[in-house]
Amino acid sequence: MSFAPPERKDPLQFFLNGELVKVHEPDPRQMLIEFLRDSKAENSAVGSGGGLDWNQEEGDALGDSLVAIQEYDLANKRLKPLVACHGLSVTTVEGVGSERRCLHQVQKRIAENHGMQCGFCTPGMVMNTYALLKSGGKPTAEESMKNYDGNICRCTGYRNLVQASESFCSDASPEAQQLAEKCGAHDADLCDKLSGRWVESCHARGPEHAKMDVPRQSDAWLMAIQDVSFFKEGFAWYAPMSLEDRRSTLINRWEEALEIKKSKPRAMYILGDTAKGIRQAAYEVLRRLAGVTELNVLEKTGTGLTFGGALTIQHLVEALEQYQEVHTQLQWPKALADGLKNVAQHHIRSEAGWAGNLLITIQRGFPSDLFPCLLAADAEISFVTSNARDEKRLALMDLKPGAVPFNALLTKLHIPNVEGAFFKYYRVGQRKWLSHCFAGAGFRLQMDGAKVKDARVALGYWAATPSRSSKAEGVLVGSQLDTATLQSAIRALHEDLEFAEERQFQTVDNPEGKDSYRRNLPDGYLFKFFQEAQNHFKIKSWPPEELGTLPVKPLKAGDLKFQEAPGLENKPQLSAMGLTTGSVRYTDDQQIPALFGYPVLSEVATGKLEHLEWRSEDDENGIDVSEALKIEGVVDVVEIGETLGDWRVLTGQQLALVVADSYRTAKRGAGAVQVKIANANEDAIITLDQAIAAESYLDSAHFRNTVDKGDLEEGFKASDLVFEGTTYVIGQHAFPLEKQTALAVPEEKKGMTVWHSTQGHDFTRAKLAGVLGVPGSSVVCKQSRAGGAFGPKNSRQVPTAAMAAVAAHKLDKAVRVAYEATLEQLAVGGRHSFKTQYKVGVNKDGKIQACNVESWCNGGCTHDFTGFLNLEMGEAIPSVYWWPNMKINVHAMKTNLPSNTAVRSFGSPQGNFVCEAIIEDVAGRLGKPVEEIREINMCTRENAVTPWGQPMEYYNADMLWKKLKQDASFVEREKQCEAFNAQHRWRKRGISAVPLAYGHCYAYAAGTGALVNIHGDDGSVTVHHGGCEIGQGIHTKVAQVVAVSLGCPLDLIRVADTNTEVVPNARFTGGSITTEVVCEAARQACKQLLETLRPHREFLVKRDSKEPSWPELVAAANAVLGHQEKLSATGIFSPAGNKYTTDVEGNALGTYHGDYFTYGAGISEVELDVLTGEIRPLRSDILYDVGQSINPGIEIGQLEGAFVYGIGYYLYEEPLRDARGVERSQGVWAYKPPMAPEVPIEFKVELLRDNPFPKGVLGSKAIGEPPFMLAYSVLGAAKKAIASVRKENGLPEHFQMPMPCTVDAIQKACLLGSAPVASGWVEAKARSGAVDDARWRALGLELRLGGVFLVGRRERSCKADGQMSWDTSQQSQVTQDVTGA
Ligand SMILES: Cc1cc2nc3c(=O)[nH]c(=O)nc-3n(C[C@H](O)[C@H](O)[C@H](O)COP(=O)(O)OP(=O)(O)OC[C@H]3O[C@@H](n4cnc5c(N)ncnc54)[C@H](O)[C@@H]3O)c2cc1C
Ligand code: FES
Repeated sequence: MSFAPPERKDPLQFFLNGELVKVHEPDPRQMLIEFLRDSKAENSAVGSGGGLDWNQEEGDALGDSLVAIQEYDLANKRLKPLVACHGLSVTTVEGVGSERRCLHQVQKRIAENHGMQCGFCTPGMVMNTYALLKSGGKPTAEESMKNYDGNICRCTGYRNLVQASESFCSDASPEAQQLAEKCGAHDADLCDKLSGRWVESCHARGPEHAKMDVPRQSDAWLMAIQDVSFFKEGFAWYAPMSLEDRRSTLINRWEEALEIKKSKPRAMYILGDTAKGIRQAAYEVLRRLAGVTELNVLEKTGTGLTFGGALTIQHLVEALEQYQEVHTQLQWPKALADGLKNVAQHHIRSEAGWAGNLLITIQRGFPSDLFPCLLAADAEISFVTSNARDEKRLALMDLKPGAVPFNALLTKLHIPNVEGAFFKYYRVGQRKWLSHCFAGAGFRLQMDGAKVKDARVALGYWAATPSRSSKAEGVLVGSQLDTATLQSAIRALHEDLEFAEERQFQTVDNPEGKDSYRRNLPDGYLFKFFQEAQNHFKIKSWPPEELGTLPVKPLKAGDLKFQEAPGLENKPQLSAMGLTTGSVRYTDDQQIPALFGYPVLSEVATGKLEHLEWRSEDDENGIDVSEALKIEGVVDVVEIGETLGDWRVLTGQQLALVVADSYRTAKRGAGAVQVKIANANEDAIITLDQAIAAESYLDSAHFRNTVDKGDLEEGFKASDLVFEGTTYVIGQHAFPLEKQTALAVPEEKKGMTVWHSTQGHDFTRAKLAGVLGVPGSSVVCKQSRAGGAFGPKNSRQVPTAAMAAVAAHKLDKAVRVAYEATLEQLAVGGRHSFKTQYKVGVNKDGKIQACNVESWCNGGCTHDFTGFLNLEMGEAIPSVYWWPNMKINVHAMKTNLPSNTAVRSFGSPQGNFVCEAIIEDVAGRLGKPVEEIREINMCTRENAVTPWGQPMEYYNADMLWKKLKQDASFVEREKQCEAFNAQHRWRKRGISAVPLAYGHCYAYAAGTGALVNIHGDDGSVTVHHGGCEIGQGIHTKVAQVVAVSLGCPLDLIRVADTNTEVVPNARFTGGSITTEVVCEAARQACKQLLETLRPHREFLVKRDSKEPSWPELVAAANAVLGHQEKLSATGIFSPAGNKYTTDVEGNALGTYHGDYFTYGAGISEVELDVLTGEIRPLRSDILYDVGQSINPGIEIGQLEGAFVYGIGYYLYEEPLRDARGVERSQGVWAYKPPMAPEVPIEFKVELLRDNPFPKGVLGSKAIGEPPFMLAYSVLGAAKKAIASVRKENGLPEHFQMPMPCTVDAIQKACLLGSAPVASGWVEAKARSGAVDDARWRALGLELRLGGVFLVGRRERSCKADGQMSWDTSQQSQVTQDVTGA
C-alpha cells in the first residue's frame, strides 16, 4: 500500500487559557512550546510562561516548561507536539493569574515566600503546584514535596517553593499555615474588578481563583472534531478513534495503518511522543494512539489487571493504587506502583505510555525502570501486526530485540494478581529524581512456610535488555530466606547477568566509567530485598529506618534568625509577582521579529580548518554548507572566523552560524553542515596531567608565588610529622536555566542594539564594536534580567552576542541566538579543575608548622579570567587558619577545551577544598577529630592576619564557630550519630562543622555607576544602574537603598533595564560585590538630590511646621517657574582600599588584592545508605556575618542557593569528557544539579545580629558566593559517615576522597563491593595462591569465602580533572550475616 496524504484538511482546535484556538494546516513537527512562542508575538495573552530553553529533544525539567493540560495533568510543552493538543484544554501560567488582573494564591505565596531568584523556573513551579491543587482534594505535605520530582531550580534552595506548596496541604506545618494567613484569602472583588476576558466571576469559584477551570467541551464538539489528520511538507499526523473505524475517509483504519507502517519505515505509532529525544530522528507519519477506544481499556479483576496500549504510566500507577485499596491483603500492587513512580517525573509519566517505554528499551537499550518492574511482576503483552483481531500474547521475559515485528502494535499489558507475593523494586541514579538508573532490580517472592515457593529476580541495565535471572530464581525456590541462600543467589545472579557497558561515564582518563559500581549494585538490592522480605514474612525484624532506600521527606520551613533595619526589611523581590505570572521579559522574550541562528561547533580538540568553501563539496578540509542551504527556510550560513588561512580548531569552538526562519530549521541546517578538519585530535591536550606533562602553560595567566610567607624549611624541621599528598578538584558547569542568549537588532548608521543575557553588558558592547568595526557608541547593549548567570555571562556571552551581531550586520535583519543546555555545555567552559600537591609539617598536637602547595588548573584554550581566578584560588587556601610558614604556587595550564571561566565563587571552592583536604589529612594521620584540628589551627582575633599580611578586619570566625557549635548542639549530636552508627549496620550518619573566611574585592565592580531620576509630577523615581539583575535581587536592594536614602516610598521607585547608553562604563556583575557597589553609587546620587531638595524641605517645614510628604517635597522643587531643579543625579562608588585603585599618576592607594572578609560557619548532618552510596542531608545550620542586611529574605535566599549550589559541586555534578574533549554529561539528561531531595530537610540560618559592618554600604556585606563553601560541611559529614563504615569493617578511617563524592565513589570508599564478583575473584586468586590470608588477618578481617560482602578493595585514585581510576591491588572483605549476626 502506498502512502498518500489525506485529502481532508482539518483545523487543529484546542482551548488555550479558556479561548478556542484554531490552527489551519498545523505542522506535525511543531511542539507546543514553539506555537506558544510564535503566538506571543501576535497576542500577548498567549505566552509561554516566562523564560525558555529551546531544548525540546531533551525533554528535561528546566522548570519553565510546564503547562496544565485538560484535567490538570501536567505536560512538558517542550515535548508535547502541538497537534497532540487537538480537542484539549491547555492552561499556561498567564492563564492562572496576572499582575494586571489578579494573582492566583499559588503565585502570591511563591512570590511572598521568596520562592524565586532569577525567576526563569518560576512559571514551571507555579504550574506544578497549580495542577496539583486542581487535580482534586487537598494534597498532603509529602505529596506536594514529591510533586517537585520534575522541577529544577538552579538559584533557590527549593525550601521556599516547597513551603509555598505545603501551605495548601491538609497537614501543612504551622510555618506554612502562617504563609497562607499572610497572603490572605483570594480577593474576589478585586479580581472581578480587574477581570479580563478570561474571568467571568470569581465569587462563585472559591479561593483558588477562577476560570482556570477547564472549559467543559461538549461531547458534540468533541465528536465533531475527532478523526483528524494533519499534513504538512511530507509529515503526517493521524489521531484515529478506533482500531477498525470504517466511517472515516481518512487513512485511519487499522489494518491500513499496519500496512503503512510496513511500507513506510519512518512511520510511527506514538502515545506521548516523549521518546523523541531518545530516537533523535524525525518521523514522517505519526499515528497517535491516545484516542483509540480499544486501546483505552482498563480491566481490573481478581486475577489481575489489563491495560490498553494507549494508557500512560500514570494510569498504571493510579490503577495499581486503586487495586491495592480494594485488595487490602495484597502487598505487590502498591509496591509495583511505587516502583513505577521512579520512571522519569510525573509530567512525563502523565504523557508517556508503558508500550513506548518497553519498545525504546528493546530498540535503544534505554535504561528503563518500567521494564524490570513489570518483568518481576510477571507481566505479559498483547500485540497485533496485520489484523486487529489477530492478537498475539507474549511474556515480557521473551520481549527481546526482534521478538515482535517492527510493525507490531502493542495493544495490551497484563499484570497477574499473585496472592501472598512480596514485591520490591530498587534503583539508584546519580541523583534521587529525574536521573536514569545505573541499574534497577525488581524482586518478587511467595513463601510456603519457611521456604520460598516462587521467585522472580529481574535486572535492568543501560544498553542491555532487562532480563530475569533464572539461576538466582532457581537458588531461591525451595530455600529459606537466610544468609546462605542470599550468598548463593548473589553468585547465581552474577552468572546470569546481561551486563552492558555505559559509554556516558567512560572518559578520557577513566575508561571503565562507573561499570563496576553498576555491576555490583544488584547485590545490595538483593540484600535489601532479603531484609524487607524477612521483615514482611516475620522471619526477622529489622529497624524500620534501615529498610528500603533513603526516604524523601518534605523540606521543613527554615528556622531563620535575622534583624531588619528601618527601610531595609525582608521584602519580596520587586518583580516577584511578574516572575510568578510569566509577564517579565528575558532576552528571548523581547517581542522583536527576528531570524534564528544556530551555531556549528567543532567536535574535535585539535586540527586545521584550512579553507571554508561555502558552496563546494569537494573540499578536503573545510566546511561544506551546500546541504544546509538546500533546506527550505535556511537563509544563510555565516562564517564566524575572520581570517581562515590556517585556522586551528578546538573542542566546542563555534565555526559558523546557520540562520533560518525558525529555530528548528536553523538547528536542522547546522546538522547538515559538513565540517572537515585535517589532523583531527592530533596531540590533543584534554586533561591536566596531559597539560602538565606537555608543559602547556597559559602564559599570560601564569601566576607564581601567589603566597610566600616565612621559612618553609625551618617549619618542616620544627615539625613532628611531615607528609605529602595530592588532591584533585573537579570542574562544574554554571548551568543557569537561561542559557547564553542574544538578540541583535540592526539600527540606522551601522548601529546595533543587542539584547543579551549577561553579567558584563558594557564588556560585550566594547567587544562588539571591535568586531563590527564601528565606534563603541554605535553598539547599545541591554538587558531586562538574566535567567541565572553564575559567572560565564561575564565573558562567554561575547561569542554568542557576536555571532548574532555579525549575522544581523550581514543580513541587515534582526537575528536571535539562544543556546540549548546541551549546546551550552559543549561550547562554554565552566569551573576550572585543579590538581594540587602539598607538603605539610605538623606537630603532634595538630598545629600546622609549614605548608607548601603547588597547584595546576585546567584553563582551557584562552586565559579568560584564569589569572585572577588562580589568585583567588591561592588566597582561598589559607581560609581561617594560621599558617606560620606557607608557600602557594598556582599554575594555569592550557588545553584544547573551551575556555574555563568564572563560576559562582570564582576559584574559592577549589582553594577551600584543598585547605580542608589538608586539614582532614592532618587529622587522619594524627588520628584526631577533624574539628579539633580546625580549632587548634584557627586564627583568633589577635592573630587574624593572612599569610600575605592582610589583616582580617572585624574577624569573628572563631566566635561564629563556637556559637554555632553550641547553638546546633554539635557535641551532643555527634554522640547521637555515633550511637546511631553503633546500632545500624547499613545506615550511617555523620556530622561535620566547617568555618569560613571569604575575601571580597570591590575592584571587580568599582566604577559601576547609577543614575537616579525623580519625576517632578508625582515624585516617582526611576533608577538606572550599571549592574545586571541575575536573580541576586540587585534591583530590589538598590530600590530599598534609594527609598531609605531619599525618604521616599518604595513603591514609587522603578529600576529600569540595564542599558549601556544610560549608565556607561559599567564593570562586571560578579564577585558578589556589584550590589553593594551599585547601592553605594545610588546612595551617592541620592545625597546630591537631597542637597537639591534641602532648601525646599526647609521652606516647607518653616511654612507648615511639619515635615512635607515626599510628593509635596518633590512638587515644591519642581514647581518653581523658570527655575526648575535638576531632579536627576548620577553617582559612583570609588573605593580606595585595594591595590587596584590608584591616583591619577597610577600610584596604588591600597596594599592588598581584597577589601574585606565575610565570615561564617556551617554544620551539616547526613545519612548514608551504605549499600547504594546514597546520601541525604538531614540538617544544616549556618551562622553568617553579612553585616547589617539590606534585605534579609533576599540574603537568606542567596545563602541557601549558594549552599545548594555547593552541594551540587561536592556531591552530584560531574562534567565528563571523552578523548576528543567532548562533554559526555550533556544537558539535564546527564548532568545532575541538585533537586529538592538533595537539600537538607532542616535548614537553620542565622544572620549575625547587632553586627553592622562599619566599612560597608549601610553597614552591609556581600553574600552571593561565600556560603557555597559552607556546603563542604555536607561533604565532611558524608566522609564521616563513610569513615564509620570503614571503622566497622576494620579498615583505616583515614582515607582520601576526591570529588564529586558521587554514589559510586561513596560506595567504593566504604569498600563494599560485590560479593560474588569479588569472591569469585578472590577464590580464583586463592586457588592460584595469590591471596595471602595473613594479610587479610593483618587487616583485622577474617577471610570467609562466601561471606555476604566479600569485596575487592579498590583504592580510588584520581587523575587529572578529578576523573577516577581504581586500583584493585588490595583486597579486603566485609562479612555480615544477613540475619544481622
Ligand atoms: C526526560 C525523560 C526522562 C525519562 N526518565 C525515565 C526513567 O527514569 N525511567 C524510565 O523507565 N523511563 C524514563 N523515560 C522514558 C519514558 O518513560 C519514555 O519516554 C516513555 O515511556 C515512552 O512513552 P511514549 O508514550 O511517550 O512513547 P512514544 O515516544 O510515543 O513512543 C516511543 C516508541 O514506542 C513506539 N510505540 C509507542 N506506543 C506503541 C504501541 N502501543 N505499539 C507499538 N509501538 C509503540 C513508538 O513508535 C516509538 O518507537 C524518560 C523520558 C524522558 C523524556
Ligand atoms: S529562580 Fe529557579 S532557576 Fe532561577
